Amino acid sequence: MQAAKQAVALAAIEHVKPGTILGVGSGSTVNEFIDALASRKIELAGAVASSEATSARLQAHGYDILDLNSCGSLELYIDGADEANPELQLIKGGGGALTREKIIAAASQHFICIADDSKLVKVLGEFSLPVEVIPMARSYVAREIVKLGADPEYREGKRTDNGNEIIDCHGFSIDDPLTLESTINNITGVVSNGLFAAKPANLLLLSDENGNVRTITPTP
Ligand code: 5RP
Repeated sequence: MQAAKQAVALAAIEHVKPGTILGVGSGSTVNEFIDALASRKIELAGAVASSEATSARLQAHGYDILDLNSCGSLELYIDGADEANPELQLIKGGGGALTREKIIAAASQHFICIADDSKLVKVLGEFSLPVEVIPMARSYVAREIVKLGADPEYREGKRTDNGNEIIDCHGFSIDDPLTLESTINNITGVVSNGLFAAKPANLLLLSDENGNVRTITPTP
């Protein structure tokens, strides 16, 4: 798996324009990407990071972390995923950074998703869907999730970088990701959910264990 992550991280470097401000996601694949950026000495005007962990890793390599509010629209955002379908709709948030990830993706003109090829699925939903909630709303949101047909599980001991909690939803059959994304977002107390359907990735770079990388564009 490590070889696949390194290969896809290297492939993503080809898409980065030196001297620009880059949006950078979170997770082990993105960590490989950050390390590859640094080892190839790619200079950036700065980076907008989707988590404290990503900020720390970028800073350790000498990159400046910028506040999204002072950057305007970003040209490019690079992030991983827990699942991707052929339309490049995603489940994200395995690491709990989904809300900031969604904000940066929304504020970016182009979103390149990087992953090993185990993440490509026909139908999203085998990976449990993370939902970030305001802490006092946790039980209420969980009851609403049950009404939608899934089994909610509180991610014990996890606080997001925003000070909120995560409910992992098991057993959703996600044949209509767009509708489910907005239905969950409309539950009071939900901050955001890990479905990236309204704004999917623009490009998916997938690598196998032998380091062969393929590029997938969304099926119309
Ligand atoms: C974090 C994420 C990550 O992108 C996702 O969990 C994939 O991580 P990894 O590259 O470690 O498999 O959404 O919130």
